[in-house]
This record gives sequence, C-alpha cells and structure tokens, in this order.
Amino acid sequence: MLITYIFLIQLLAGTLYAATAGTKQWQYTGSQFREYYEFKSSLKAFYKVHRVPLTWHDARTRCDREGAELVAPETYEEVDMLKSVLEKVNAHNPSLFLGIHSLFMKGNFVTLSDVNLEDLSLTWEFGEPNNIANNENCITMNQMGRLADTDCNSVHPFVCKRKAKNMSWNNECNTHDAAYTLAPSLSTCYKLHTQPKNWTTGYDVCKAEGGYLAIINSIEERDFLAKLLEKHPPESILGNFGKDIIYIGFHDLFVNREYRTLEGQTLAEAGYNQFAGNQPDDAPPGERCGSIFRNAQLNDAWCDRLFLFICERSIKKRGKAESLSAQ
Ligand SMILES: *[C@@H]1O[C@H](CO)[C@@H](O)[C@H](O)[C@H]1NC(C)=O
Ligand SMILES: *[C@@H]1O[C@H](CO)[C@@H](O)[C@H](O)[C@H]1NC(C)=O
Repeated sequence: MLITYIFLIQLLAGTLYAATAGTKQWQYTGSQFREYYEFKSSLKAFYKVHRVPLTWHDARTRCDREGAELVAPETYEEVDMLKSVLEKVNAHNPSLFLGIHSLFMKGNFVTLSDVNLEDLSLTWEFGEPNNIANNENCITMNQMGRLADTDCNSVHPFVCKRKAKNMSWNNECNTHDAAYTLAPSLSTCYKLHTQPKNWTTGYDVCKAEGGYLAIINSIEERDFLAKLLEKHPPESILGNFGKDIIYIGFHDLFVNREYRTLEGQTLAEAGYNQFAGNQPDDAPPGERCGSIFRNAQLNDAWCDRLFLFICERSIKKRGKAESLSAQ
C-alpha cells in the first residue's frame, strides 16, 4: 500500500529515478525538489523566490537551511530569469542579493563555492562598485541584471537555488534529506538535529526543511522518538552541551504555564501530556519552551540554550511553488 502510494507520487510528479549500482544514491532527473521550489528544465535547477527582504547573512542561512544555495547566476539565461523575478517585486528599484561576497578578502568578490566574480559573465551597474564607507562586501543585482556592491546588513529579497544534478532522494520521506527516518505506522518522518540550536532557531530550521518542531500526539509517537534518541547516544554527538534535553514543538510563550503545541492545541488535545517527574518547574528566570528528555517525557526548558531538536514532516503534504516567470 505504502509502496504503491510512493510510486504514485513519483508518477504524478513526473519524477524518474535510476539507481547507481551498489549504492543507495539515486540520480535525480525529475521535476520535484521540495515545497515551494520551481524546476526550470532549461537551467536544470530548482528555484524559490523569497520576497521578504533579509540581510545577506540571513538570506544565505535561509537558503542553506532549505538545502539550497543563495543564487549566483552562471549564465545569461539565469540572469534573465532573475530579471523577470525582479519585475514582480513590489518595490521602487528593487534588487536581489546574490550569493557573492568579499567577506574573506576585501575587494575580491567570490561566490559561495569560491568562484571569482571575474569568471562569471556579469556586468556592474554604472558607478559600481564603489564600496561606500568601505562597508560594501555583498552583491545585489538590479532589474537591468547589473551588479552593485552593497552593505551586507541592508535587506533585499533573494532567490535560492538547488542544482538538479546528482541529487539523492529519500524515497520513504519524500525529501532530498537522507537524515529523515520514516515511522511507517505514523506516516511521518523525523530528523534529530545534532547541531544544537536554541528553540527559535530550531523552529526556523524545521520550517525551512518543510517540517516543524516535532509534536507528540500519541504514546506510539513518544516511543518512536525515544528509540530515535537511543540511536544517537550523547557520546556519538560532537560538542560540549547538555545532550539529554531535546527541543520539540510546544511552548508557553503566549501565557505562562499554558502549554500549547505549535498547532495551537493544548497538550491534552494533542494526545500526549506526560511530563517527567517534577516537571514543568518553570526554573528561573522562566522556562517557556518545550523539550523532552531521552525517554521522551516532557520538560520545560529555557528557550535560549543550545540543545538538540527533532523536526517532523508529513510525507503527504506538499506546498505549491510560486511561478518564476513575469506574468
Ligand atoms: C555525478 O555523478 C556521476 C556518476 O556517479 C559522477 O561521475 C559525477 O562526477 C557527479 N557529478 C557531480 C557534480 O557530483
Ligand atoms: C536564538 O538564536 C538566534 C540566532 O543566534 C537569535 O537571533 C535568537 O534571538 C535566539 N533566540 C532565543 C530565544 O534566544
């Protein structure tokens, strides 16, 4: 049944996979990468337009968390595509941040894969680069497709890109990310993040992966998470931080001691409200974010500490991509 379902999804999405002998790698030649990305077959890549302007660092991070890269156009066709994206940006003289910077060596602009700007067929705008106040280490592209050096802390919309070439595919979880594991009877997938983050960053990372900080809806789900954690004992995880507290998707950030899941339900409504002994204790100066211990019993935790966290994603839900073309 499940296999039929996955097969149907692939068929519907027009995707095609070919196994490379002896490995679990799949050559990805299809039209689907992930939520909200559009495939441009002539450019052999997936793109997502981010309309909300961010700083260059935040833009780079956002693309990275989506499994993509802040775009640095490699061809005239790609420049044209970005120009048509800019036609739809609702602003006076809009420009996009590109994945090009001179943060490591002032005056020497490189892409995020260390290709020199001189090796790309790109053109500066008149009067650029001018390095105003000696503080312009990032690059934007305007509606004419021309470049300017820009303050990295200014904010601009941007486009994330993922090349289709050699993309591996996690069939079970319907994602490129091999770190997601399916809980077959729950129809959901989970990923334990072993790079510790605070709760809000964990929230952001899960969302960017097309999921959410895990919400426990049953004893069965609790047991699955406890088993997942068993596979990652503290000594297997790098770094010096508390590895027995794991952020998940509940909090009392709106009203103290009124715990809600990220979907707004009380814990009882969500289907699992078993706190560990003596928890929640709202330890000073106040613990407002949700976590579990390794046995997957609930605990309140400080939101700003760096802990492990678990993302969850449904294998069924898919978001629609925004069209890249001008109309
Ligand atoms: C893609 O995979 C093929 C075959 O496995 C390999 O020869 C090639 O170097 C890979 N290309 C990239 C860009 O990784
Ligand atoms: C989490 O870390 C991010 C990035 O360092 C920071 O902006 C945010 O305010 C932090 N959140 C909390 C709750 O401390």
